[in-house]
Amino acid sequence: MIEWKNDAGVVTLTMNDPDASANTMNDAYVAAMGTVVERLVAEKALLKGVIITSAKPTFFAGGNLRQLSRIQPSDAAQVFELIELVKRQLRTLETLGVPVVAAINGSALGGGLEIALACHHRIVADDNRIELGVPEVTLGLLPGGGGVTRTVRMLGLQDALMKVLLQGQRMKPAHALSVGIVDEVVPAAELLDAARRWITTYSGDAKQPWDRDGYKIPGGTPSSPKLAAFLPAFPANLRKQLKGAPYPAPRAIMSAAVEGSQVDFETASRIESRYFVSVATGQIAKNMIQAFFFDLQSINAGGSRPDGVPAYRARKVGVLGAGMMGAGIAYVCAKAGIEVVLKDVSLEAAARGKEYSEKLLAKQVAKGRTTAADVETFLSRITPTGDPNELAGCDLVIEAVFEDAGLKQKVFAEIAGVVEPDALLCSNTSTLPISSLADGIDRPDDFVGMHFFSPVDRMPLVELIVGAKTSDRAIAQAYDVVRQIRKTPIVVNDSRGFFTSRVFGTLVMEGAAMVAEGVDPVMIERAATQAGFPAPPLAMLDEVTLTLPQKIRDAARAAGDSAGAFDDHPGMAVTDRLVNEFDRRGKAAGAGFYDYPADGPKRLWPGLWEHFGRSEQAAAGAAGGADSAAIPLLDLQERFLFAMALETVKCLDEGVLRSVPDANIGSIFGIGFPPLHGGALQYVNAYGPAAFADRARELAAAYGTRFEPPAALVRKAAAGEIFG
Ligand code: NAI
Repeated sequence: MIEWKNDAGVVTLTMNDPDASANTMNDAYVAAMGTVVERLVAEKALLKGVIITSAKPTFFAGGNLRQLSRIQPSDAAQVFELIELVKRQLRTLETLGVPVVAAINGSALGGGLEIALACHHRIVADDNRIELGVPEVTLGLLPGGGGVTRTVRMLGLQDALMKVLLQGQRMKPAHALSVGIVDEVVPAAELLDAARRWITTYSGDAKQPWDRDGYKIPGGTPSSPKLAAFLPAFPANLRKQLKGAPYPAPRAIMSAAVEGSQVDFETASRIESRYFVSVATGQIAKNMIQAFFFDLQSINAGGSRPDGVPAYRARKVGVLGAGMMGAGIAYVCAKAGIEVVLKDVSLEAAARGKEYSEKLLAKQVAKGRTTAADVETFLSRITPTGDPNELAGCDLVIEAVFEDAGLKQKVFAEIAGVVEPDALLCSNTSTLPISSLADGIDRPDDFVGMHFFSPVDRMPLVELIVGAKTSDRAIAQAYDVVRQIRKTPIVVNDSRGFFTSRVFGTLVMEGAAMVAEGVDPVMIERAATQAGFPAPPLAMLDEVTLTLPQKIRDAARAAGDSAGAFDDHPGMAVTDRLVNEFDRRGKAAGAGFYDYPADGPKRLWPGLWEHFGRSEQAAAGAAGGADSAAIPLLDLQERFLFAMALETVKCLDEGVLRSVPDANIGSIFGIGFPPLHGGALQYVNAYGPAAFADRARELAAAYGTRFEPPAALVRKAAAGEIFG
């Protein structure tokens, strides 16, 4: 597990787990490290220094998440002992009295970086595939292997929290160097020589090499009177950032860092272990590990991609429509190295779309993230045009013209004889059924829905929609394209609103239903943000426009199919009234649930209280008229979460969704389901399907039949199974 090689007093320890593709903090590691450390202590007098490196492509992959996700609150004492043991080993190494260098040959994340942080010097190979950082916060965890305690002592409280611990950023070597978590970046081939050089250059100096300026063997307290004056600001800022959502990990990290900064190293380290145990034994870490590790891993490994189709790489893409979405799609494709022909009604319109990339890149240059030369190469990949014939040679087409079936079919017809005969044909439609759109297209089997989210450069999800005639080859190729542009694909079968819009609709319409009940709109919005939604429902409904539910209902009625159309949803009465009676259509029109004053931030429209409030309802003699104060906040929050989760269960049962990971990741990445619950189905699993069904019945009795548990949930509950 850890190979030992002594070369004239310099011991190289090479981590190499024989049973896995990467080194992780499993039992074998702990045992091997124990043995190695004992031997180092015994042979210390003969040693000049120690180098730690790895024989795997990664340096060290961190904690064993499978094990971690099974930890129960009753395991707390045992987990505490184990983490203290791991940390004692590293502390012994750190205080051995000889210089210890980490020669970081591959990614060092989480526990991997924490091993390196316990060394006196960190040298990393100059390879952009390498990532360094402590992403624990993104899994609901805390860097409990010394990560908090050491970064606070290396970088100071402010930088440690803001640049490393609370963001959980994965940094490339140059970035890690600028932040200060590594000391040198050298060509990969020179890594071990550089490590040896560092040891031999300094060994024997009167001044201990590892005791150089900026990093002493941590012992004392890093706090200063100036810092103490700023301490109260940290929790206040964090509260603001989290908007009241109950994420334990950032709070625990902050507390461990602040409390640890005021005591000696050993005490700080124990404080850190206790906070680690508190988050690791909780449900939120389990939810986040499930979604952001296991579900994502499954999707990245191929997930719902049909088997047996050779891997595909797009070389040249034609993007039809250079509006908001087309411009963003062109940007992400060019970023991934794909040639882009960006076509709009005229060259001028297309050039405006290309300007979008120019603006994004200019911002990155200003931030020092890219160079002017790289920008030039990037932009040279995008050719704007008004002429469909310029799409010659394209092996991929992504259409993003106006949401009009006839227009979409027309633009595909224009390029049918121009692009490669087997080019993959994709539409970014957000509402039109893929199967009927395909009917007007030359090669329906090569046609697939490729639904991006706005803003395209930032939103990680792409929903692939399979029409009645879409071939497995087309789905697999589209899947590969999404991976090629470094986004996350989920595959769904054609249905009104697909998966994401259908489930998103239940959230925003629930907000509207609460308005109908006379619930204070401030409470509605606050309940959602405190539940962990990135944006509140009435504000989001304003964004998508209040006429959208009407359009969907009308289309459904015309098609004689009301599934997913909110036809009898109580929220419809509110959106209808706002549009028809008050001409409030949403943000783009300047008025919706909110007012959008030119000179300040948006404000909830006072008319909501006046026309929908409880007293107005009572005056009009309406039965009910909910008393906001009487509705528990938890009910409001659970109504949002349950509405989405129940619709997701239906999507899975109807075959709209193909997998549980697609449901969890799609709900978080596409439509803002609170990440702390690990996605819409993980929420049901963690609640327990039987308890969830019971609670759904309670909500149905109080608020409407839309909360009745669907048959698929009742079956799971009866069988005592979870979705998985
Ligand atoms: P947009 O209105 O910003 O852009 C549409 C572009 O298509 C315009 O630049 C227009 O000049 C161009 N166009 C019209 N006829 C054309 C033709 N014959 N050939 C080439 N270009 C033509 O619209 P947006 O928001 O970019 O939406 C585009 C598509 O993406 C729609 O289908 C929409 O439903 C879908 N979508 C939109 C999302 C959003 O958040 N806006 C999210 C996901 C999908």
